[in-house]
Amino acid sequence: MNTFYERVGGEKTFEELVTRFYAHVATNPILRPMYAEEDLKPAARRLQMFLEQYWGGPSTYSEERGHPRLRIRHGGFHIDTSARDAWVSCMRSAVDEMILAADLKQELWDYLEAAATHLLNQPD
Ligand code: HEM
Repeated sequence: MNTFYERVGGEKTFEELVTRFYAHVATNPILRPMYAEEDLKPAARRLQMFLEQYWGGPSTYSEERGHPRLRIRHGGFHIDTSARDAWVSCMRSAVDEMILAADLKQELWDYLEAAATHLLNQPD
C-alpha cells in the first residue's frame, strides 16, 4: 500500500508546501521575529524533512535532528493563541495555493491544524 507521502506527490509536494508557507512567514509580523536566523531556508528544510518523515517518506529528519519531540523543541517559543493562529493562517494560505486532490488536502490540513493547536504553550 502506498504511503500518504507517495500519494500526495512525494518530495516535490512537501518542498512546494514549505516554500509557500515560509513565503508567508517572511512577511508575518507575529511569526517572523520568532525566527532567530536571517535566512529562513534552513528552518524551511527542517519542516520539510519533518513532514516528509511524518507522512511515511524518508527519515532524514531523525537522522539529522534526532527524535522530533516537537512540544519540547517549541518550548522556547512563546506560542499563544495569536501565534498559533498566525501559523495556521500562513499554512492555510500555503495549502490553499497547492493543487492537490481534495481528500488528500483535507487529511493534510486536519493534521497541520491539530498539530499547531497541540503546540500551544501559553494560557489565554
Ligand atoms: C503553533 C505555531 C508554531 C510556531 C509559532 C512555530 C515556530 C517555530 C519556530 C520559531 C521554530 C524555529 C525555527 C527552526 O530553527 O527551525 C520552529 C521549528 C520547527 N517547527 Fe514550528 N512552530 C509552530 C508550529 C509547528 C507545527 C504545527 C509543526 C509541525 C507540524 C512544526 C514543526 C517544526 C519543526 C519540525 C521545527 C524544527 C525543529 C528542529 O529540528 O529544531 N511547527 N517552529
